[in-house]
Amino acid sequence: MTKIRIGKLAALLLPAVFVAGISVRAQRASSFFPEKDLVTTGIYYYPEHWSESQWERDIKKIADMGYEFVHLAEFAWFRMEPEEGRYNFAWLDKVVGLCAKYRVKVLLCTPSATTPVWMRTNYPETFIMDGHYIRGEHGTRGLGSIVNPVYRKFVERIVSEMAKRYGEDKNVVGWQLDNEPDAKADYSPSSQEAFRQWLRNKYKTIDSLNAAWGAAFWSQWYNNFDQVIIPNTNIVNWWGNNPHALLDFKRYSADAQAEFLDFQAGILRNNISKDQYITTNYLAVSTGADPRRAKKLDLATYTAYPNGGGDNLGELGYRLGNSRLILFASEYYKSVGGATGVMEIQPGQVNWGSSSPLLLPGAVRMWLYHNLGAGGRLACSYRYRQILYGAEQYHSGVMKTDGVTPSQGGEEYMQFMREIKELRKQYRPGVRMPERLAARSTAVVWNLENYWTIDRQKSNQQWDAWNYPVKFLEIAKSFGAPVDVIPEGADLSKYKVVIVPAYEMADAAAVQKWSDYAAAGGHLVITCRTATKDRMGHFPEAEIAAPISGLIGAHVKATDMPANSAKGELLMGGTRYSWNTWGDLLAADKNTEVLATYNNQFYSGTPAVVTRKTGKGSVTYIGVNTDDSRLEKDVLRAVYEKAGAVTEAYPKGVYVYWRDGFFVAVNYSSDNYAMNIPETGKVLIGEKTLKPAGIVVWRE
Ligand code: GAL
Repeated sequence: MTKIRIGKLAALLLPAVFVAGISVRAQRASSFFPEKDLVTTGIYYYPEHWSESQWERDIKKIADMGYEFVHLAEFAWFRMEPEEGRYNFAWLDKVVGLCAKYRVKVLLCTPSATTPVWMRTNYPETFIMDGHYIRGEHGTRGLGSIVNPVYRKFVERIVSEMAKRYGEDKNVVGWQLDNEPDAKADYSPSSQEAFRQWLRNKYKTIDSLNAAWGAAFWSQWYNNFDQVIIPNTNIVNWWGNNPHALLDFKRYSADAQAEFLDFQAGILRNNISKDQYITTNYLAVSTGADPRRAKKLDLATYTAYPNGGGDNLGELGYRLGNSRLILFASEYYKSVGGATGVMEIQPGQVNWGSSSPLLLPGAVRMWLYHNLGAGGRLACSYRYRQILYGAEQYHSGVMKTDGVTPSQGGEEYMQFMREIKELRKQYRPGVRMPERLAARSTAVVWNLENYWTIDRQKSNQQWDAWNYPVKFLEIAKSFGAPVDVIPEGADLSKYKVVIVPAYEMADAAAVQKWSDYAAAGGHLVITCRTATKDRMGHFPEAEIAAPISGLIGAHVKATDMPANSAKGELLMGGTRYSWNTWGDLLAADKNTEVLATYNNQFYSGTPAVVTRKTGKGSVTYIGVNTDDSRLEKDVLRAVYEKAGAVTEAYPKGVYVYWRDGFFVAVNYSSDNYAMNIPETGKVLIGEKTLKPAGIVVWRE
């Protein structure tokens, strides 16, 4: 390993992100995926891992199994450019040709996530540096310094070569960029310089930066931009860093990631047919990359590995997987291009889990139906054959290690693909969402920046910064509501209920928007930690959450975050609830109704949840975070009733969706659940009584 200290840095060329604007626009995602097809299925295949003599057998089998596209070329840079500037596509031509022969489409992937060995040998600066200023090494993936101009030049060349070769191929349907972009922290000299440039663009003067970063604290004051280095949590203890500088580092890293994707998308768009789409495969839980920042992709897809061996719902939960993963990701990524799908769905056991249980028979099919129900337009799986060597030896494929026998996941995939063919025959265009569902339509407003700031300063280690907003999605789904996860700027008027959970950084414009929504007849639910900071993460020079006190009709006087062992009690309508993570002590205004109060501790009797009418709608503030969500659920149920919506009471892990005229229900719980399907309803696939991992599709 090479240890490089950061000293005086030579001026470096900067990538266009920090200079140029966006010229190529993304196309409408839905135009690539006709509604009548519902969902298109695909599979990752790595010809470079297998003997050429098996390629034809494998591609033919992929087609026979029912897959509609093959995902190729990811991580294959070493084959496409074995030496700098010497390209070899003969092998890929052959496989692309085989796909055409067996009538499966091709989804190509740009190889930027893994560089050939000559790159590290000749251009070490193309690798990131970690927080101890150690350079990434050749031999794994995802270590390219995406802001390094030399790396960029090589990416530009290989992507251009690929685009020119396959951009007009009618059998190539689209492109995936890179792999699971995650906006890694990069402390290399290139990144230090790019960060400074980003700061210069943002703040213009060093005094603005000093003010935004609160640099008077601990003598951090800067005299000019050249003195600024990336704040480094590896050097300073975990709470001792500057939270505002770290927030900017997150923003910069996410911007750099988005710009790197747009950079690749721009190269492709200039060279490929407009019939080929461009996407990337974000992590389902993407805590670094912000999919809403990239502007040139036609859609954002995600990767879903629900089962990493952890406990989930009930005794079978560890075989079924995390019920919240596809739940959230399918809505979140839809908010980017209007359509999404799953690019990698777990086909069986994984190599990286805490344990590696056999999946409950039906689990893979259930995940596929979850994606379908949630509107997924694409369902691709990683990978076709289980690899015989390397880091992922213990990772299942849809084919077992002999290369010819489908695994359990492979069998379930084939079943799903047969069923989709049947469902397509039942598709009828133009069917409208049933009124009882539309009456519950819900939005959860969510922004990755709030995750960053809360996660950095949780104040209470029990606070689960990722899952907190997800729990409101879960609650709304338990009522049978169609739920969108939307960005702050989205139109709120089409939603009956809008939930704003722990939206920590908010400004007057956001608060005005929420206020207008409620005044116009919407039912707004705001929860604790909202508007407690401005966009730089500073507290207002006023009472806590001052920007929303008028809107919620109450004042946050103080917040209690008791020890793990403490028992907080609440009282609402004669029912007792417990809590112990976060409790705002409220003082309600005269016309505000108190729904719940604290029922023990020295502040017993103090309001915790309040509601008020405003204009034609209502605003409810939930100032407390309970571990079991029972209180939040009861408060929300009352909000839906107020909105005139009839709610269902689906158990945890049972999700019901409506899409394109079909109802789809899945069951992640460990118990049977009898789905209430009206007399007029016609079951098309599955059974009314959902077993664990069961699914049912019906039409009414
Ligand atoms: C994904 C990744 C794939 C593969 C898979 C294994 O996160 O995108 O390339 O490594 O994990 O589970």
